[in-house]
Amino acid sequence: MHHDHLISAKQLSRDDIEAVLDRAAEIAADPDAVAGSRSDTLLGLLFFEPSTRTRMSFDAAMQRLGGGTIDMGSVDASSVKKGESLADTVRVIEGYADALVLRHPSEGSAKLASEFVDIPVINAGDGAGQHPTQTLLDLYTIRENAGFDDLTIGIMGDLKYGRTVHSLAHALTNFEATQHFISPESLRLPSEVRYDLRSAGTTVHEHTEIDNAIETLDVLYVTRIQRERFPDESEYQKVAGEYRIDSTVLESAGSDLTLMHPLPRVDEISPEIDETTYAKYFEQAHNGIPVRMALLDQIL
Ligand code: NCD
Repeated sequence: MHHDHLISAKQLSRDDIEAVLDRAAEIAADPDAVAGSRSDTLLGLLFFEPSTRTRMSFDAAMQRLGGGTIDMGSVDASSVKKGESLADTVRVIEGYADALVLRHPSEGSAKLASEFVDIPVINAGDGAGQHPTQTLLDLYTIRENAGFDDLTIGIMGDLKYGRTVHSLAHALTNFEATQHFISPESLRLPSEVRYDLRSAGTTVHEHTEIDNAIETLDVLYVTRIQRERFPDESEYQKVAGEYRIDSTVLESAGSDLTLMHPLPRVDEISPEIDETTYAKYFEQAHNGIPVRMALLDQIL
């Protein structure tokens, strides 16, 4: 990759993406070959928002490469609580670590942080903006299960606030995928993302009902309604629970549909689906390890 920082999926060309996915596949096939290879490296983890998968898989990936991590801990336990700015926080941690992984509630925060430090900044989610490393593991999962040739994908749920959606939709323009977007009217894809996709030559198909699209899909990517981003709880209540994938919905799906979700799920996918051959979301989460190992190996 030609960029020190990974801020947005818009930075990634098809070659960049395939280089990470190929390396991740090599690592998955033979993790011992890279064990200990980064024993001189410390990764700084700065999570200003809750995280399970992203934080733990970056931590595990760094340790599996032989390096270590230093974690700011919760906002309540850090000097952020005393009013320290993001710029000061990252400038200090730059002196402790070789790269930073940052999750923050404000869109643009990772870009801002990258302007204050000389070590690589990896965006692990900036508000409703971008989540490019999730996209890399999503693409790895898509490649393993459906392949990129002639791909038709449906992306469903909170398309307005879902940063995993924005990153994935941008990255998929590199693969000429046909993209269907399924959401309530109030949570449609932001106009700037739609504009970017159209400029890249992607036809944007939008639906309010999954029934109109499901039979054409190779992949269905379901997302959680991002409750924490709603300025008004009553607006959340209007759309909460509106979409749920269960065995009735999947009756119209192709038998080889790949069903994905970045997790955490609330109630978007019925647990009865977990044991079916459609369900790839736990495999998807596990792919975070080789993909983040590959990314760290390249970026560091
Ligand atoms: C996602 C996120 O934080 O954007 N989680 C993740 O990293 N897997 C999705 C979500 O919170 O809904």
